[in-house]
Amino acid sequence: MDKAKKEKRYFRIYEQLKQILSASSFEDAKMATILAVLHHKMEYFFWTGFYVLHKGELTVKTYQGPLACQVLEKDKGVCWAAIKSNKTIIVEDVHRFEGHIACDSRSKSEIAVPLQNSFGKPTGVLDVDSAEYNSFDEVDAHWLEMIVKLI
Ligand code: SME
Repeated sequence: MDKAKKEKRYFRIYEQLKQILSASSFEDAKMATILAVLHHKMEYFFWTGFYVLHKGELTVKTYQGPLACQVLEKDKGVCWAAIKSNKTIIVEDVHRFEGHIACDSRSKSEIAVPLQNSFGKPTGVLDVDSAEYNSFDEVDAHWLEMIVKLI
């Protein structure tokens, strides 16, 4: 998707989510709704989900798309890299990312955006996979970072 189209699409999604999410203060409801909207409105989102830190493990919480890994091997892969750096990680080609964890062999590119508590500490990630190479850029990073702040 070209950048201008992406910008417009994310802008509309963000406005829509802001409105819908204000109806509940329950975090799980917000997470589920974010995933449903993103997954069905962004056609290159092949797997869209949240992994959260639970007893020191990065464990899947809720997602849309094919069956995912329940727990991610510690300190390995894209999601752990986002947690450890506390920064959004964009991977153009997962096969060239050292330690990438392949939950589904169709995934080719990926973005992982950290979730942060009120002290700025990472508590989990929003993780999105695409079945095409090079799907994610700074436009996705910007808007997905804005969207996770709505939780
Ligand atoms: N690829 C991720 C694992 C999660 S799946 O993409 C759903 C990683 O390397 O951390």
